[in-house]
Amino acid sequence: MNEEPTGGCALPQQGLPAERVLDEIHLLRAQDRPTHGGQLFAYVYDPAVPGLDELAATAYAASAHVNGLDPTAFPSLLAMENALVGAAAELLGGGPGSTAPEVVGSVTSGGTESLILAVKAARDAHPEISTPRLVVPASGHAAFAKAAHYLRVGLDVVPVDPGTLRPDPAATAAAIGPETVLVACSAPSYAHGVIDPVGEIAAAAAAAGVRCHVDACFGGWTLPYLRRLGVPVPPFDFAVPGVTSISVDLHKYAYAPKGVSVLLHRDPALRAPQYFAYADWPGYTMINPTIASTRSGGPIAAAYATLRHLGDDGYLRLAAATRDAVAGLADAVRRVPGLRLMAEPESTVVCFTATDPELDLFVLVDELTARGWHTQPQLSYAGLPASVHLTVTAAVATRVGEFGPALAEAAKAVRAAGPVVLPEQLRTLAGTLTPDALTPELVGGLAAGLGLGGSAAAPPDRMAVVNTLLDAAAPALRERLLVEFVGLLQRPHW
Ligand SMILES: Cc1ncc(COP(=O)(O)O)c(C=O)c1O
Repeated sequence: MNEEPTGGCALPQQGLPAERVLDEIHLLRAQDRPTHGGQLFAYVYDPAVPGLDELAATAYAASAHVNGLDPTAFPSLLAMENALVGAAAELLGGGPGSTAPEVVGSVTSGGTESLILAVKAARDAHPEISTPRLVVPASGHAAFAKAAHYLRVGLDVVPVDPGTLRPDPAATAAAIGPETVLVACSAPSYAHGVIDPVGEIAAAAAAAGVRCHVDACFGGWTLPYLRRLGVPVPPFDFAVPGVTSISVDLHKYAYAPKGVSVLLHRDPALRAPQYFAYADWPGYTMINPTIASTRSGGPIAAAYATLRHLGDDGYLRLAAATRDAVAGLADAVRRVPGLRLMAEPESTVVCFTATDPELDLFVLVDELTARGWHTQPQLSYAGLPASVHLTVTAAVATRVGEFGPALAEAAKAVRAAGPVVLPEQLRTLAGTLTPDALTPELVGGLAAGLGLGGSAAAPPDRMAVVNTLLDAAAPALRERLLVEFVGLLQRPHW
């Protein structure tokens, strides 16, 4: 077996000393994008608070082997879960003295699981509906589509206005039918950071007697603080009549390590169908509020420690730093001719597109990467142009001044290089190929030509050609191509 520190094979003939193993992990980690330092605008949420990582890691270790499967066996975990749910409920318009005093919830592994469970609860509340359906804006997170797919719930997608990037409430109301079990909206949407018209959508859902879920996975922990800082945040939480459930991810803007989200319901009756219970076997009766049964206490304890340490005043301070960073980044974008903000920032996303074909966005992303700034390209979709997404966290605040010059310099380099021109054959292929016509040989050839897969453990730094190819393809072909490409990466390298 391979004993090189390459991640080749995890099981050596003989066990290795702890120090050596940690060295291996640090070597592997050195290949990653930087999780700290305020230059990575997706995937990570960094408050840049000294000592917080160490605190969370210690708390994680203290509870890593505790099992959330049985809250009676591990009351420590039950207490911490209830405390997290209580904090989220109070922040989002529920709890004592509010109009939603009976809010309850569950701690899940992340936003996707929270959304799947919101859809499951809505579906299972209506066993009489044989073909349940979910109404969701086109800007809703892809996890709603995943929930619909896993749970065999039909998906009714309401388009978003290309100007406001929001769904029309009247169109949303019109999409609600007798089989609709849930209407969803976002506060804010991930892609563009805009807040949907929650009040009108929730009213339409309530009028039809249907549940309404607000996906605040991304923004649920910052919007209340931004509001306190004077930002005009429209009503989006349990203060809005008709909102029946809300999701908020603690591993995003609550700055907890990965693996923690909270799904809240307005009352216990709404939550009841979320549980899975099974007593019809000879083992223990299984009662699960979440998809996983055995659950590590690590992420929950780490989140608990993070909230206790940062406190309400800490989150307010971090939200102020983030608000200032957003303003600075948006100004930097406005100063580059040929770039346009997709929307005026109203939360913690800065998203921009190009108005000048010479300013190829995918090349711009690569040029920024080459300068140490890691942004997220978004492909064009249903009349919306390709764009660049920046998730802004508090750590960015100290780096904003450097971003403007880097962006201007990157844009200059893009203009000098010119846009990506796909070979005619590839462009035709992307425009005409149907997903089922993709053969392994074709994918292998494409991947090799694009520098993907093979024996390389990681994709290449320059992705503009790949992104241009994907952008030219319809969503179904994009999905299939990426499944194949990622499949090439996710293989053991013996
Ligand atoms: C609005 C929104 N909903 C859901 C999710 C899914 O969250 P996760 O990646 O934790 O599963 C995200 C992730 O970015 C999000 O932004």
